[in-house]
Order: sequence, then structure tokens, then C-alpha cells
Amino acid sequence: MKEKMRIHGGARLEGEVMVSGGKNAAVAIIPATLLGDSPSVIENVPDINDVHIIIEMLKYLGAQVEFKDNVMTIDPRTADKFDPPYELASRMRASYYFAPVLLGVFRRCSVPLPGGCDIGPRPIDQTLKGMRTLGAHVDTPGGVIMASADELVGGDIFLEMPSVGATVNCMLTAVSASGTTCIHNAAKEPHIVDLANFLSSMGAVVKGAGTDVIRIRGGRHLHGTNYTVVPDQIETGTLMIAAAATGGDVIITGTIPTHMEALSAKLLEMGVHVTSEDDIIRVRSNRNFRSVNVKTQGYPGFPTDLQQPLAALLTVANGTSIVTETVFESRFRYLDELRKMGASSRVIETTAIITGVDRLVGARVNATDLRAGAALVIAALMAEGVTEISGVEYIMRGYERFDEKLRSLGAHIERVREGSPVPVGGFLPNI
Ligand code: EPZ
Repeated sequence: MKEKMRIHGGARLEGEVMVSGGKNAAVAIIPATLLGDSPSVIENVPDINDVHIIIEMLKYLGAQVEFKDNVMTIDPRTADKFDPPYELASRMRASYYFAPVLLGVFRRCSVPLPGGCDIGPRPIDQTLKGMRTLGAHVDTPGGVIMASADELVGGDIFLEMPSVGATVNCMLTAVSASGTTCIHNAAKEPHIVDLANFLSSMGAVVKGAGTDVIRIRGGRHLHGTNYTVVPDQIETGTLMIAAAATGGDVIITGTIPTHMEALSAKLLEMGVHVTSEDDIIRVRSNRNFRSVNVKTQGYPGFPTDLQQPLAALLTVANGTSIVTETVFESRFRYLDELRKMGASSRVIETTAIITGVDRLVGARVNATDLRAGAALVIAALMAEGVTEISGVEYIMRGYERFDEKLRSLGAHIERVREGSPVPVGGFLPNI
């Protein structure tokens, strides 16, 4: 059932909210549980659509899965299939993480090419190169990753770019390869480090995660484990930007402030008050923002996944901001939607020039991907009047209870079924 979000802008966000477990960490860790010879218990798993798709994939493959109150128990011992179906794999980006895992367990796999947000071509050539370097025979006939290997042997993998997905897949292949694998030019994101910590807790020997070179001594016997997923870096950043956008005063708990330094620095540059202590980040603003220039980079640079939410804030900053997207080829489509709300911007190749306006006005807009949806929510929270955002299914893929969390901070937001005024679970605030 298609839903939309209806937001009446203008409310200041105030109060305290806890961030959920990391989507991009969980979707890498959960498939890896199949590499163990006993059950694993994963805590702080976000209850989001992408996780539910992974659960369906695990069950299809024969594993036993229970998921309740953000705790997932996976028993891999009954898994007996290596070919997840297209209907599931095509619905998210991380589904191809099953390929190296199933190759390691069954010495072969047949995994459809992944889906995921439409933000560029998103090839997987570096993943295929990594699997081949370690001895797999890999091809992609008819859009299916077909791989087999009598034996996987460690080696040196040189990534063309610090690809998150390729780094994950090379790690998941390397733990099943005898000898040592070095992944050079590896991605350094928090979720890469979290996967490394998880694999180590299963008995793998993984060194250097979070640096350019990850060394794995593979071929070891892996067992089930208990693990807690790292807080979601991008949800934390989205909540920080939403707090600033509304001139609010919000305390975000359960965070890792060091993961947020690139965004915190940008918000401080804009005149937003950001302070942190232990696992708490506090964001306050007076809605008077300086324009800034932003260039997305791999971690620890400014995250590409926060480019869209921050750009929403820049639409009402004083002056002109330049946003340069260096990671994906087409991640500015949401600006067309923001223009419907009165924003002023131009896109030249992979650079957006955003000229601040006095105010945004509510409109009917459409989310084209996960973080575009988050950008539209932030714009709607600032806008005068009511905004309706269709494509809510994108937002719910990656943000746990997003509308509930914002409502708990004072936002006038509800989810309604397309074509119906009645909210879904929420309530009709006295708009
Ligand atoms: C992951 O996507 C995330 N998804 C994305 O988050 C995130 O934006 C991205 O990393 C960058 O941080 C998950 O973790 C599930 P990449 P991924 O491989 O792995 C090119 C979200 O909103 N490339 O680091 O697909 C590629 O085209 C999502 O949560 C190749 O050319 O990103 C892109 O331009 C959106 N060949 C760039 O590298 C390859 O083999 C970075 O892609 C691999 C990548």
C-alpha cells in the first residue's frame, strides 16, 4: 500500500531522541552470520524494510531467523541454498553481499545483481575483481552473479576507488580464503569497521579496518557470536540537520560523535551550535544559517549520504552554497522537488549551486531515493504550510520509525495512505 507523509512545517524540534542501529552496518553483518557453524545474536538491528528483505532472503536460503525488539537471532546450520531469488535481491543494494558468503559456504553462488537507490550506474566491477583475485570463477550472465571456486586463496586486491560495497565483499570473500588477503584502497566507513569487528568476534583475523589497507588471515573456522550493531551515522546526521533546520534544541543519544565530525564541522561553519559528550550530541540553532561549500568524500570526509539532507538546509542559508558530489554520478534529482517548494538551485554536472531563499513553501513532492526523501522531510519541516511527500517507502527502507521520532520532538508529521486523509498509525495533529 503506497503511503505519503504529510508535514505541517514550522514547529521547532525540541527534546531527546535515540538513534537506531546502522542500516549499512546491519545489512553487511547479517549475511555474514551464515559463515559461522552456530547461531549468532545481533542486537541494535534497525527495524527497517531493508532488514526485512534480508530476513526473507535468509529464510529462503534455509536459515532459521527470529527478529524482535531490534534483536535478531540467526541459526545458519539449516541453510542449504545458494541462489536467492531476483524478487528479493533486486529490492536492495546490499543483497549482493550474500554472493561471497554463499561462495564461502557452498563454494558456489547464484545471486542476482542488486537493486538500491537510483543515484548512478553503481557497477560492481571491483567486487568481481576481488572475488576473482582470490580464486573464484565469476561471471554475470543475465544479470546474475554466478561464482564458483574449488579453493579460495588469499592475495592482494587493489580497489580502483574506496568502494564500500567492494570492500565489504572482498572482506566477506577473504575470510573464506586460505592465507592472507590485503585489500588496498579500502573504504574506511564506520560500517566497514563494524563488519571487521563482527567477523573478528566470529573468530576471523581482520586487521586495519578503518585504514586504507585491511589485512585478513582467512580460512579459519568461524563460529556464531553475540554482537551489537554500531549506531547509524547517517540517521544521526539526518536528525542533527533536522534539529538545526527547525531552529530547535535536540539531544541525540546513542551516537558516536567522532563519526559525525565532518557534518558537525559544516554545521558549526553555518552558525549552528553543535556540542557533544560521551554518546550524546546536542544541536541548537536560531534558523540564521551562513552558506557553505561542501564536497562529498569517502569517510572521514563529508558523507555522500548526508549531501541531500544538508542541501535542504542550504536552500534557506544566507548566500550561495556550492555542493560538489564526488562519489555518485546523479545524486541531485531531489533539487527538482525542492524547487517546487521555492528553493533556488542550478546543477552543472556533479556540482549544485544553491542560492538561499527567505523561506520554503509546502508543496506536493516526490521522494526519488532514500536520502532524497530525508531531504524533502527536512525541507517540509522548515516550510510554511503543508507538504505531502510521496515515495515514503524509500524513507522507511533506511530510517527506523522516522515519523514517530520526529513527532516525539514536536514535528507535525503523519503517514497517510495515498488517496486517503486518514493517518497510518499516527494522529491528525490539530493543524
Ligand atoms: C554504499 O553504497 C552505501 N550502501 C550507500 O548508501 C553509500 O552512499 C555508499 O556506500 C557510499 O558511502 C550500502 O552500504 C548498502 P560504493 P555502494 O561502492 O557500496 C563506484 C544509503 O543511502 N563503484 O562506495 O554502492 C560507484 O558507482 C546508500 O544508505 C564502481 O565504479 O557505494 C560509486 O560511484 C545510498 N565500481 C562509487 O564507486 C564498483 O565496483 C562509490 O560506490 C563499486 C563502486
